[in-house]
Amino acid sequence: MAVINTPMKKRAMIAIAHRGASAWAPENTVAAFDAALEVNCRAIELDVRLTADGVPVVIHDETLDRTTNGSGRVASTPWLDVRRLDAGSWKHPRFAGTRVPMLEEALQAICPVARPVIELKVAVDPPMLIDLLQRYGAMSDAIILSFDSAILQSIRRQSPDVTIFQLVKDWSPQAVRDCRQAGYTGVVMRFDQWALDRAVMAKDVLAHAWAYNVNDPGAAAACGAMGIDGVITDYPDLVRVQPGT
Ligand code: G3P
Ligand code: CA
Repeated sequence: MAVINTPMKKRAMIAIAHRGASAWAPENTVAAFDAALEVNCRAIELDVRLTADGVPVVIHDETLDRTTNGSGRVASTPWLDVRRLDAGSWKHPRFAGTRVPMLEEALQAICPVARPVIELKVAVDPPMLIDLLQRYGAMSDAIILSFDSAILQSIRRQSPDVTIFQLVKDWSPQAVRDCRQAGYTGVVMRFDQWALDRAVMAKDVLAHAWAYNVNDPGAAAACGAMGIDGVITDYPDLVRVQPGT
């Protein structure tokens, strides 16, 4: 386990459980969220897609094949058929019977103990999302992510208050400036895209610079040295923030 003190702005780095504690339990399931909470992780990332009948569900891939015993596209499958699938056995037999959760069930499991970090893989109905966050008292805790800026803009138009971070595939200073213009307060990139000057700029222009794919102590330490303030990791015990930082 890496113990990190960030050198910049003296702000502690937090761990965000990637798809829940996905190293230890089937990703994007309540079992993975519970496993993250058990190690006192206080922010949990999850992926949202829509079923054929428009139910927001928590699953990463476009298809059901890899993480359930079903097959076919999530967007072509009605919720009741998704619900019947086993989303745990692929990880380990002890997770047999684990289900694909609705977004609402994920919020029930995560809030208010941890912050939900919600990656929108597809466009969702903005009023539906904001209403759900309000019902779970998560408006100030939730962070909305997407690679798709049009999706994020639709959420920003619905709510000036909800926190939004942009996921960025390739670094560009203009992308960071665009985030500020759009009212987003963080940028999230894969660990290997970050460098010290990039992190400094991102934190100056926005407030937060997060990295994903941070799955070993060396990567976590490198993030700490750059001033990255959030690491999205399959191992949420990777980063232990020292008290008082
Ligand atoms: O949210 C950061 C990260 O989860 C983006 O990549 O493929 O794991 O959704 P992916
Ligand atoms: Ca994700």
